[in-house]
Amino acid sequence: MCGIIGYCGPGNTVDILVEALKRMEYRGYDSAGIAVGDYTGTLTVVKRKGKIADLQKVIPSTLNGSYGIGHTRWATHGEVNDINAHPHLNCAGDIAIAHNGIIENYAALKGKLISEGHVFRSETDSEVIAHLVSTFYEGDLELAVKKTIKLLKGTYGIVCIHAKEPNKIVGARNGSPLILGIGNKEMFLASDVTAMIAYTKQVIYLEDGNVVTITPDGYKLTDGTDKILDRKIDYISWELQEIEKDGYTHFMEKEIFEQPESIKRAMQGRIDKEYMTAKFGGLNMTNRELLAVERIKIIAAGTSYHAGLVASYLLESVARIPASAELASELRYRNPIVERNTLYFAVSQSGETADTLYAMRELKRKGARVLGICNVVGSTIPRESDGGIYIHSGPEIAVASTKAFTSQLAVFYLFTLLIARMRDMSYEMGKAFIQHLEELPQLIAKTLQTNSHVKNLAKKYSIYPNFLFLGRGLNYPVALEGALKLKEISYIHAEGYSAAEIKHGPIALINENTPSVFLVPDDMLREKVISNMKEVKARKGKVIALAVEGDEEVARIADDCIFIPSTHELLYPFLMVVPLQLFAYHCALELGHNVDQPRNLAKSVTVE
Ligand code: G6P
Repeated sequence: MCGIIGYCGPGNTVDILVEALKRMEYRGYDSAGIAVGDYTGTLTVVKRKGKIADLQKVIPSTLNGSYGIGHTRWATHGEVNDINAHPHLNCAGDIAIAHNGIIENYAALKGKLISEGHVFRSETDSEVIAHLVSTFYEGDLELAVKKTIKLLKGTYGIVCIHAKEPNKIVGARNGSPLILGIGNKEMFLASDVTAMIAYTKQVIYLEDGNVVTITPDGYKLTDGTDKILDRKIDYISWELQEIEKDGYTHFMEKEIFEQPESIKRAMQGRIDKEYMTAKFGGLNMTNRELLAVERIKIIAAGTSYHAGLVASYLLESVARIPASAELASELRYRNPIVERNTLYFAVSQSGETADTLYAMRELKRKGARVLGICNVVGSTIPRESDGGIYIHSGPEIAVASTKAFTSQLAVFYLFTLLIARMRDMSYEMGKAFIQHLEELPQLIAKTLQTNSHVKNLAKKYSIYPNFLFLGRGLNYPVALEGALKLKEISYIHAEGYSAAEIKHGPIALINENTPSVFLVPDDMLREKVISNMKEVKARKGKVIALAVEGDEEVARIADDCIFIPSTHELLYPFLMVVPLQLFAYHCALELGHNVDQPRNLAKSVTVE
């Protein structure tokens, strides 16, 4: 949610800033801007409502400089327009800042600054930072930033430059990510490693309260006072090609088709064939501690929440341990009871989602043990959790999450295996479970072959304004996920429900203009779901069914059928979700929408 970048070094500053913003565009894409400085003490700001491509059109070809900052925005305070786009300047125009986060006390600060004679140009909360820095500036930008952040309440990742201190950028972090990139005679500050991966893989993840000053030759990292911190340099393992489209038209398409591989990576090195169980390096729990766990609770948002819901069903039915999943945003404010011997999981692709992070902090404050299940290495949730599991999906760039979902599931299935093998599951059952899991990449690859059929269905059905997605058991959360995918990128209204639940209300919506997508695996609930399908058909509702190859009964009832390969009944969520991802993707394309950057959304939601 908002991406910020700072660069100083010998490279082409404008190109580097713009490229970095493009890489981070998925964090927010309603407006963007850059501020570039040079040795002569000039600062030039160019900013525009719209995408980075729109910004590029208005950057003068002559603009150059040796340092600069940039921002891509997801609006919180103030409408989307050129003026509210970042960077923001102080009155004199010699200080520029870019900010990610929310300054909660900006109104009071702004009032005071105005009474002191400051003139504000924008409606943003962020502009107060530029004015505050100017009031504290006495020839030392770092000191002025340190004094400024003492007054700020809320969250921020900030980059700040001053025309009188060329080639220097001061960054500060509290609650919003900020990463220092250490290059060869060039330095970076960014919200996301993808912004700098083309230039350096050596990074330091800033922590809350840190202030860093960079120049082309080095950096000075402090804890916000005079204390210099000597922090370990981390190495980014992602490759540049992983953040490119690699021949695909869209990131979402690429990420859907990567799933056979990403799921393999999620499981790699985690299967123990000697004991037919799973092993994880980072749980930071002994088997004895795991055995003492009496309950598992999962918190997450969006797609990660749906993965958590599937996991809660699985853990309870297979590992025989009470488990539940809850929206992190809800948990945080309801004063949750933290019981002894309850293990919590915070699930988040980005590892930065504010709702999940703050709920995790609340749980930890109450003494809970919280493990993270995340994709982005070094992000805040894994760093603040008591341990956890990386899903190793590789970068997920499209705003609508796809491969992270199946990899989160894969990790949860392995964790279930670990717990189940400590409890009821026999060696032989563990062996069978592993065999089925190992078949998944190939089965997902086969399921992806439904693509052209799903594309034709999207052509036929994307004209309808409302959809129901219906499933039961483990596939009920998959129905929720299918509906979310369609909403997110095609803007078609869709509701996910338990198929059993439609008779309690949603069936009133059924008519020839409201198609239903039924998930019908061959599990113990198949007959019941078929009855629900018939109830919909009896009311002239159109039915698209996802059924197992050879299920002619379902094919006869449904108007259209998508066949998926047969597998163990526990594994259908992996296969059911794939055609739903493709369906949303093709519907969005049919309707002419930007699939990778849907309106109003952002990939990494770092505000509540
Ligand atoms: C945003 C994204 C969703 C994502 C959710 C949770 O809303 O648009 O795609 O599922 O955040 O993100 P997380 O990074 O915590 O999994």
